[in-house]
Amino acid sequence: MGYGAPRTIRDHILFVERRLKAAHVVFGHGTEDARDEAAWLVAGAMKIAPGALAARLALRPGRAAAARIRTLLAARIRTRRPLAYLLGEAWFAGHRYVVDPRVIVPRSLIGEFLPEGGASPLADPDIGAILDLCTGSGAIAIAAARAFPRARVDAVDISQDALKVAARNVRLHGLTGRIRLFASDLFAGIGKRRYDLILSNPPYVSAPEMAALPREYRNEPALALSGGEDGLDLVVPILHQAGAHLTEDGRLVLEVGASREALERRFPDRPFLWLASAADECVGYWHKEDLEIFARD
Ligand SMILES: C[S@@+](CC[C@H](N)C(=O)[O-])C[C@H]1O[C@@H](n2cnc3c(N)ncnc32)[C@H](O)[C@@H]1O
Repeated sequence: MGYGAPRTIRDHILFVERRLKAAHVVFGHGTEDARDEAAWLVAGAMKIAPGALAARLALRPGRAAAARIRTLLAARIRTRRPLAYLLGEAWFAGHRYVVDPRVIVPRSLIGEFLPEGGASPLADPDIGAILDLCTGSGAIAIAAARAFPRARVDAVDISQDALKVAARNVRLHGLTGRIRLFASDLFAGIGKRRYDLILSNPPYVSAPEMAALPREYRNEPALALSGGEDGLDLVVPILHQAGAHLTEDGRLVLEVGASREALERRFPDRPFLWLASAADECVGYWHKEDLEIFARD
């Protein structure tokens, strides 16, 4: 099929999907396969939400939109930049965020446990204080503010660049009154504040994994991914220090990715509870009292 052949939105999606597969593009930045990425690319080029595509599959993109589809597809294949960076947007927990290469593309599994409207399994719907440690784009902080409508959220990151992106997102979501952003190296800038819920998706990629990352991931800030030799450089200090920043009934929710194995090896006698998510079981959950054993080290 020649490049001019796709006519309807459905044709364009199928065409883009075939080209992405043929080019061996790697997914994982908001989509998991070529079909979903193709649909997002076409939606992005047409400036509509991906969820709005299904009802329009038989329509034809206009000339300008078709040209944008071609340009985006070519850039995605040539540069291997995540589509989110090319579009300047990402979707997380059902909402749109602005992103650029100063932050990773939000995809934390913690989002699954933050449904809107008080049904989160993580904590009582009335909790008052939440910390999002290593906030990046602010996506988890914002999803948490939606999931716990009465809570105030502190969101911290060591990267001033990331905090600028997070500030844009907090404004975009109309949450400047409930989310406070500030710079902190883990808990160092938190002072004596305590929280009912600490959420964190820190860098946890081990050195061997970093060396083998596909090009897509190398477009993201290394500061956001690299967790040292075994991936635990930030995970272990968080486990040591979080208890001191939790209220009496407080909980820590910490994503550790593939470094789960190294963590369980390092602490074979410690209690670990892993939340079951659709994709993986690498989000740990601790009550304050379960963390005391880590604080004693
Ligand atoms: C894996 S990203 C997660 C971003 C966001 N929470 C998400 O899920 O999309 C990790 C973030 O931790 C930040 N970070 C790295 N080292 C840090 C440190 N020592 N203290 C605070 N934040 C740090 C990075 O700048 C990055 O934004």
